[in-house]
Amino acid sequence: MIKRTKVLELLRAEAPIDKILLKGWVRTKRDSKTFSFLELNDGSSLANLQVIADSSLDNYAEITALTTGSALEIRGSLAPSQGKGQKWEVLAENVTIVSVADGAYPLQKKRHTDDFLRGIAHLRPRTNKYGAVFRIRSELSFAIHKFFRDKGFRYLHSPIITGSDCEGAGDMFRVTALNPGEIPVSGGIIDYSQDFFGQEASLTVSGQLSAEMFALALGDVYTFGPTFRAENSNTSRHVAEFWMVEPEMAFCDLEEDMDLAEELVQFLVACAMDECMEDITLFAKFVNKELLTVFDNILSSPFIRITYEEAVNILCKSGVSFEFKVAFGSDLQSEHERYLTEKYFKKPVIIYNYPKEIKPFYMRLNNDNRTVAAMDLLVPGIGEIIGGSQREERAGTLKKRMVEMNLDEKKYWWYIDSRKYGTVPHSGFGLGFERLMMLVTGVANIRDVIPFPRTPGSIEF
Ligand code: 4AD
Ligand code: MG
Repeated sequence: MIKRTKVLELLRAEAPIDKILLKGWVRTKRDSKTFSFLELNDGSSLANLQVIADSSLDNYAEITALTTGSALEIRGSLAPSQGKGQKWEVLAENVTIVSVADGAYPLQKKRHTDDFLRGIAHLRPRTNKYGAVFRIRSELSFAIHKFFRDKGFRYLHSPIITGSDCEGAGDMFRVTALNPGEIPVSGGIIDYSQDFFGQEASLTVSGQLSAEMFALALGDVYTFGPTFRAENSNTSRHVAEFWMVEPEMAFCDLEEDMDLAEELVQFLVACAMDECMEDITLFAKFVNKELLTVFDNILSSPFIRITYEEAVNILCKSGVSFEFKVAFGSDLQSEHERYLTEKYFKKPVIIYNYPKEIKPFYMRLNNDNRTVAAMDLLVPGIGEIIGGSQREERAGTLKKRMVEMNLDEKKYWWYIDSRKYGTVPHSGFGLGFERLMMLVTGVANIRDVIPFPRTPGSIEF
C-alpha cells in the first residue's frame, strides 16, 4: 500500500519520490491539448502543488471538465518541475475523481471581501487567507502549552458552567434547564432552587477563581479554554465567545506577573515567525504591510511599564482633545490606549496600579488604599490584549472589598476560605487568544481570527 502524503510534505521533499498517493481539492486548472495542469491544495500549506495529468489517462475528458473545488485522489510520482515558480510537480498516473464541485462554488479565483466571506463562514477556511489564519491559530495553541509546560506549569481544566461571576461585571450568559413556558416564580422572582443546579448558573467569563484555588495547591497553573461574555459591544475587538489563556502563580507579585505577560507575548510572536513564516508572509504582503516591523517592535526591546497615574498625566498633558475626558478614576477608553501605544510610546505598554473603583473585587489593594495591583498590557493597533493582577490574599481586606462592591460574601465562601489556610501572595492574568491572533496576523477584525464568531445578533454557523 502506498502511504498517503500531504502537499506540505511534498513541497518540502529533498528528492523525487516514485510512488505517491495524494488527496485534495482543485484550486485552479489550466488545460492544453495534451496536458491538464491542476493546482491541488489539501489544507496543509498555503502553496498549492501542481499536478500534471496527461491526455493518455483514460478519464482525461472528465479531468479537463473538473471545476474549482472538486475533490481528487491522485497516484503518481513527484518529479522536479519543468515549469517556473515551483520546485516539484506531480506526474499523475491515476486520477480518481472523488466529487465534482457545483459550478456555483463561490470561491472562484479572485479576491473576496472579508465581509462577503463572513457570510459564508462555512467555506472561508478554504481560502488562502483563512487557511493561513487557522493554521497559525493551531500552531500558537500548541506553543502556549509548550511555553507553560517548559516552565513547569500544570494545565488546569476550569469549569465552563459556573455559579460565580469572576469579573463582577454581570455580563454573563445564563445556563438553565428550566422550560421557558414553565418558569417557577415565587414572590415575583424566579425560583432557581427548582433549576438544574438549585441556584443560578452561567457560562464562565474567566477561569481565574478556579485557577487561584489550584495555584494554591499545585504552585503554577494555567487554563486555556473558552470564555463567554454577554457584553453588547459590537466592536472589532469583542466577541461573545472567546478563548483565554490564564496563568496563575503562587508566591508571585505583580512585577513577576508583568514579566511573565511580556515573556509570553514575545515567545508567541517569535514562535509565529519560526513555525508559520509561510503563512505570515501572506499577511505581511496583503493584510498589514507593517507586520514584520510590528514583530520587530515587540521582540527588540522591553515593553514600556507605567502606572495608571502616569498614564493619566501623559494623556492630560498631550494637548489632544479626546472624546472622553481623562481624570484619575476614569477608565481608559480605546482612544486613550491608542494614543499611548501608537503615538506616545509607539511600543506595547503595560499600565499598572489602577484605581480600585474601576477594577474587580479580587485585585490586591495597594498601600495607598486607592489603587489595586492590576495590570493591562496594551499593544498598538489593538489595545488591551492582557488583563491581570496580584490577588488580594488577605481575608479581611478581601471581605471589605466585597462589601464595598456589593458582592454576596456567602456565595464566595470558598474563595474567602482559601485565604485562611496558608494564604500567599499570588498573581495571574488573562490573555485574549483572539486578540493575540489579531496581533500576529495583522487582521483588524476579531471576527476573522475565530472559526465561527459569536457576536450580538449573529450565530448562524
Ligand atoms: O481583562 P479581563 O476581563 O480579565 C479577566 O477576565 C481576568 N479574570 C483574567 C485573569 O486575571 N485570570 O480579560 C482578559 C483578556 C482581555 O485582556 C482581552 O484580551 C480578552 O481577555 N477579552 C476579550 N476578547 C475578546 N472578546 C471579548 N469580549 C473579550 N473580553 C476580554
Ligand atoms: Mg480587562
